[in-house]
Amino acid sequence: MKNIPVITIDGPSGAGKGTISLRLAKHFGWHTLDSGAIYRVLALAANRHRVSLENESALVNLAIHLEIIFELLPDLSVGVILEGEEVSQDLRRETCGAAASQIAALPAVRQALLTRQRAFCQAPGLVADGRDMGTVVFPDAFFKIFLTASCEERAERRYKQLIDSGIDARLSDIITEIRKRDQRDSTRTVAPLIAAKDAYVIDTTGISIETVVERILKKVVI
Ligand code: DC
Repeated sequence: MKNIPVITIDGPSGAGKGTISLRLAKHFGWHTLDSGAIYRVLALAANRHRVSLENESALVNLAIHLEIIFELLPDLSVGVILEGEEVSQDLRRETCGAAASQIAALPAVRQALLTRQRAFCQAPGLVADGRDMGTVVFPDAFFKIFLTASCEERAERRYKQLIDSGIDARLSDIITEIRKRDQRDSTRTVAPLIAAKDAYVIDTTGISIETVVERILKKVVI
């Protein structure tokens, strides 16, 4: 793992991590890790197996044994197959994001998911996005980014994504949900959402994806 270059992108929900991560991965020809999808798929599995979101030991057991396949799609995004079923669409729902945020606050669950996340670090390189990629999962990453944006703009982006993918949503509900998630993800005791000390911080409010990518590429020297 030591010689494989990793770029980490952390930040709150809707800051543009997923899009920027895919653009960078395409640019360099590297793999991607959407770590939020791992927390989301565990939350979905818990719901399907009727495991309470507060039952830490049962969630850990599920996290260790769960049959998940991450499938690389032609656009370099990753399809998720849970116990034989393609679940990418279910994972995008706000209810799933909220449940993921809840289980992500449990220390033993985070620990149980570490190995699965680190296994994504494969040659020739990895762009990993989430909340603690630069601080906990890949602390030795050679370039760390922290993306942020105003709550309103992040909610609007999320709203558009959901509507575009055919999922019904209300903007006011998303703003409330994003505030709640920001609060929970930033104040939990283990691996809270925080910029790594050596992260390049970009506020993407009012800035196009192209501009953000350009700024990053100017800084990243491989
Ligand atoms: O990035 P996302 O919205 O798909 O993530 C869903 C939730 O999972 C998020 O609210 C917090 C949790 N998460 C986390 O705690 N650590 C990560 N590295 C990624 C996600």
